[in-house]
Parts: sequence; C-alpha cells; structure tokens
Amino acid sequence: MIDRGHVEIIRSATFEGMADAHGFPTARYQRYYAMLSRHVKKMVCGFLYISEAGRAMHPGQAGMDSPAKIAAFRPITRAVHDNGAKIIAQIAHAGRQTNHARAEGVSARPSSYFGVRPKALSTAEVEGVIMDFARAAQFARAAGFDGVQLHAAHGYLIHQFMLRSVNDRTDAYAAPYLFLERVIAAVREGCGADFPLWVKISAGVDIESFSRADFLALIHTLDACRVDAIEVSYGTMDVALNIFRGAAPLRTILRFNPLMASKGLAWKLFRLPFEYARLKPFRPAYNLEAARLAQAQTTIPVYAVGGFQSGAEIAAANFKHISLCRPFICEPNFLKKLAANPAYVSKCIHCNLCAVMSDSDRPLRCYLGKQP
Ligand SMILES: Cc1cc2nc3c(=O)[nH]c(=O)nc-3n(C[C@H](O)[C@H](O)[C@H](O)COP(=O)(O)O)c2cc1C
Repeated sequence: MIDRGHVEIIRSATFEGMADAHGFPTARYQRYYAMLSRHVKKMVCGFLYISEAGRAMHPGQAGMDSPAKIAAFRPITRAVHDNGAKIIAQIAHAGRQTNHARAEGVSARPSSYFGVRPKALSTAEVEGVIMDFARAAQFARAAGFDGVQLHAAHGYLIHQFMLRSVNDRTDAYAAPYLFLERVIAAVREGCGADFPLWVKISAGVDIESFSRADFLALIHTLDACRVDAIEVSYGTMDVALNIFRGAAPLRTILRFNPLMASKGLAWKLFRLPFEYARLKPFRPAYNLEAARLAQAQTTIPVYAVGGFQSGAEIAAANFKHISLCRPFICEPNFLKKLAANPAYVSKCIHCNLCAVMSDSDRPLRCYLGKQP
C-alpha cells in the first residue's frame, strides 16, 4: 500500500455547458467552480474555444477568444483562488470535430462521426490558428488562470495534425508534431516560461492509426519542448465513448445527440450495431500503462486519467499524478470521503449520461443512471 500523500490527484478538464451563446461564463459557471474549489485543490476547466471557427458542437461551450473574456473569467479564477485552489484553462480548437458550417481542419477529410467536410486550412491560416492559441493563453493568464492546458487529445485540431490518415498536407505541417511544437513556442513567447503549460494527449485511437512508435515520438517531442505537464488520455470523438468507457446509453444518445437526428432508420439499424461493436469495455485505470510508458521517457510530470474510482485503485496504481473526471461530477467531495476512508469507492457507475448530455443544451450534472 503506498502512501496516498505522495499521489497528487487533480480534476481533469470537464465540459460544463454553462456559458452563454457568446461563450461567456454564466453565474452558474462561477457558482460551480466556487463550489468545486472548496473540495479539489487543482482543476482544469472544460475546453474553451480559441476562435469562433474552433467551436465544438456542444451548446454552452465557453470561449477564450476575445479580450472581453478576461474580465468575464476573473470572478471565476478569484473564487477558486479564494478557496486556496488553482485552475488551469484548457484551450482547444475543434477542427473537423464539430457540426457548424465554418469548420476548418488540417485537411478536408471529414470525421466519420461528425460528417462535416471542413475547409482545409492554408499554411497562412494554420499560422493564424497558432496565434489564436497564443492569444487565448494570454487572455487566460490575464484572467487569472494558473496555467493553460492545450487540448491535443480526443481528435480535436492539434490531434488531427498527428494522424496520418487525416493529415494529407504537403506543406511543412505535414510533419505530425510541428503544429503542436509551434503552438507551444507561441504560447511560451506570449505568456513567458513561468506560466505553466500543460498538454493533454491521446495514447491511441480507434479508427485512424496512431502506433506505439507514434506515441513515443509524441512524448519525446513534448519532452524536448519542456512543457510543464502531460496528461495521457485516449481516443477521438469518432468513438467518443472509448474516451470514457462504460455504459452506452442508446436511448439518451438517440434523443439528445443532434447528429443522430440526421441519421436515417437504415443507419440506425445497420450502422449503429457496427459502431457499438467498436466500444471498449470499462476497466479501472484504463490509460495507466500508457501513462507509465510516457513517464518512463521523461522527467516531466505525467498524469494518468481514465477509470480511477476507488482508493484501492489509486494506491495500487503506484503512480504519482492522477486526474479524475466523473468521480468529481458525481461527488465533488470525493477526496474528503477518500481521506476519511482510504477504501472509499466512488458512487459513479459510468452510466455516461453526464457525457452524452454534454451534446444537449443542459448543463453538466450527474444523472446516476437515471435517464433524463
Ligand atoms: C461530462 C464530461 C465532460 C468532459 N469534458 C472534457 C473536456 O472538456 N476536455 C477534455 O480534455 N476531456 C473532457 N472529458 C474527459 C475527461 O477529462 C477524462 O479524460 C475522461 O472522462 C476519463 O476520466 P474519468 O474516468 O475519471 O471520468 C470529459 C468527460 C466527461 C464525462
């Protein structure tokens, strides 16, 4: 049994669905973080879009796309700091993984899930997006965030550059990690080396190909860039449930997911079972081996995320940095319960209704298996 005092447990990025139509955080957003920061001392906020074109499909997504956001986020970071906690801003560009007409991507290749054919970014436009990331990081710093996390996982734009089957470019950005390196350099230049810069990555994917050698090359790239932390997750939105693992609540997906409304009966009858066959079963700490492999390559702290739900699993992992999402949705005071009882098991049952409902216009909450 290892001493849990040596394990740092943080809250991983979790989409809130609590912003207005212009991406400004609402009073509810502020109340949520004021509450959460009483229980968790380090957290990453849900992904913030860096530009209108980079917005994801989710209604209620917050943005870090204009100077007006600085004042809007200040009360949130202040509330978190008043509770002695820290908050990192996760910044993202959805690329092809969205449903709006302005979608832009590394190439014109659509994602099988979203189906939208994005406009392929020109070289000059790619460089513009790099500057958008740098600007968003500067806004986040000015708003009082304690660092930024680049969302380079789950099939969003930075990740799209890394996937050979998506990145068919012939310019310099055909090199899978160049875009990420340039974004890191631009953020460092804009915010300074003392502003924590984290990167969230996916160790593997389901549809596109990303080998173990690719993953190692990515870790070596991040090591050379000397980022401040790496978080190891899995997958893309093409098989979104493999990011989370657990139940696949079909009734709720069919009712609330806007992409499903456009699918005909034939798709539902013949394609859906095929999609379900791709799903990976839930198992505890399902990204731990990949995180261990990453940590063996670098002295940069690596966070393992995915499937930690009990004190016993956290202790057995014998891993220094762990991040959790669903256990904190279910029980914001999960850590207090764990401190009182080292064998405590989260009440989260991986019904994944919280995740599926992110596609609706309803704000984040735990459903504990009860269909909305
Ligand atoms: C409702 C919900 C929202 C999420 N939002 C984000 C997000 O904004 N950015 C991100 O990188 N990951 C997001 N994730 C993924 C989690 O950060 C985490 O990688 C995943 O849920 C596995 O961790 P867990 O088993 O502790 O839940 C979200 C997950 C859920 C369930």
